[in-house]
Amino acid sequence: MEMMRNMAKLLWLLRFFSDIVPFSCEKSMRDRAIELMQDARLIDGHNDFVLQLRILYQNKLSRVNLRELNRTHTNLVKLQAGYVGAQFWSVYVLCSAQNKDAVRLTLEQIDVVKRMCNSYEELELVMTSQGISDSRRIACLIGIEGGHSIDSSLATLRMYYDLGVRYMTLTHSCNTPWSESSSKGIHNFYPSVIGLTAFGQEVVKEMNRLGMLIDLSHTSYSTAKAALNISKAPVIFSHSSAFSVCNHSRNVPDDILQQLRKNRGIIMVTFNADVLACGRKVVNISTLADHFDHIKEIAGSESIGVGGDYDGVERFPKGLEDVSKYPSLIEELLRRGWNETELKGVLRENFLRVFREVENVRNAFAEMDVGESEILQEVQNSCRLDLRKPQPQPSRSLGFTSATQPFSLTLVPCLICIMYHKIYGV
Ligand SMILES: *[C@@H]1O[C@H](CO)[C@@H](O)[C@H](O)[C@H]1NC(C)=O
Ligand SMILES: *[C@@H]1O[C@H](CO)[C@@H](O)[C@H](O)[C@H]1NC(C)=O
Ligand SMILES: *[C@@H]1O[C@H](CO)[C@@H](O)[C@H](O)[C@H]1NC(C)=O
Ligand SMILES: *[C@@H]1O[C@H](CO)[C@@H](O)[C@H](O)[C@H]1NC(C)=O
Ligand SMILES: *[C@@H]1O[C@H](CO)[C@@H](O)[C@H](O)[C@H]1NC(C)=O
Ligand SMILES: [Zn+2]
Repeated sequence: MEMMRNMAKLLWLLRFFSDIVPFSCEKSMRDRAIELMQDARLIDGHNDFVLQLRILYQNKLSRVNLRELNRTHTNLVKLQAGYVGAQFWSVYVLCSAQNKDAVRLTLEQIDVVKRMCNSYEELELVMTSQGISDSRRIACLIGIEGGHSIDSSLATLRMYYDLGVRYMTLTHSCNTPWSESSSKGIHNFYPSVIGLTAFGQEVVKEMNRLGMLIDLSHTSYSTAKAALNISKAPVIFSHSSAFSVCNHSRNVPDDILQQLRKNRGIIMVTFNADVLACGRKVVNISTLADHFDHIKEIAGSESIGVGGDYDGVERFPKGLEDVSKYPSLIEELLRRGWNETELKGVLRENFLRVFREVENVRNAFAEMDVGESEILQEVQNSCRLDLRKPQPQPSRSLGFTSATQPFSLTLVPCLICIMYHKIYGV
């Protein structure tokens, strides 16, 4: 009787296991990913949600509930579901604002990040590595995407730092007067600039001195190499992937990945389907994980982070449609044999290391002179008021006297500029 009962128990146990084993294995991988992320919440390097706030709501936060908004890839509920612990919000303005109102538009985007992060209890604006570590909310950080936002002015760069900006991407899809973009043929700004000019090198040095992270996504390979060569601090690629896996110009070739490893910087791998798959139709989590595997092989797992680029592009891999889906990536990497130390690095620790080193370089450079380089000729246009060079003719002196000048002399160039602006938009 006892034996039969034991047999029955055994049979029941066997059946039980054969039924649930495949399922429980699957589930435990998901559970491991979630546990890992509860312990090491993600720091994401790039999200264009605030550009969507401008496009959809003209930055009028009073008209929208950011918790449940679902016209975007990002909302607060989804960020929490995705175990996001810190987000770099991109304060991006279009390249066509270069030499026009790029600074104003950038300030408006900084303003909307600050208002957003101050008005929702789920969020908190931070400006230091310690601030990220200490935050129990979703830490907000600010990144500028494109050197055109500083209008070739180191003073403007410094003021952005004071406002809380902690990285700047040296270019977006246009050259600036001092840095070359990886995009060709989209804009026609400064076509003869190659890599970093002398002023571009001063921008990099000033960023080191300030403690602002240098972001090389969207830059040309010459720009990236020059910046890696000059920077005293680790750099980041805030949203790029591996060129060897998909030869998109946003992606980083192996020789630069090796240079990045020596620099102790990181590449925050992007989820943008076009950048991952070069136009292939099936783009899923495996496609993305292939980039992670390749970069780990070339640069080591300590050189890797995550920069989704949600709300910056339309197409994302199947299974990674919005910011709630990050755990699926971690699950796939666990399946591919990435260990927990490597994954905590990818999620959080690698970025924190880079940010701390950038702050340490700033502290070490405390005695360095403030950058006072400037470029004038390259950025001159008829809408600028030139206060620098008083000239003998009364009509041009100091630019203060326009009220006393004949209308046609001073206002016509500016009217042309305004008309141009109206016709071609921002
Ligand atoms: C999006 O939100 C609106 C209003 O909150 C709701 O009516 C709609 O069903 C939601 N759509 C989806 C796909 O969740
Ligand atoms: C890197 O720096 C070295 C020494 O300052 C210089 O000789 C070399 O040309 C630089 N390379 C690049 C790609 O800027
Ligand atoms: C990428 O590879 C394709 C096919 O080999 C080639 O036609 C294309 O020119 C390459 N693009 C770049 C940017 O290297
Ligand atoms: C992704 O798609 C490929 C090709 O269809 C397939 O072999 C692979 O299993 C898919 N991966 C996932 C995680 O769905
Ligand atoms: C995880 O992998 C790294 C190599 O990337 C190795 O140095 C480390 O010892 C591993 N950690 C564990 C706990 O297995
Ligand atoms: Zn971008």
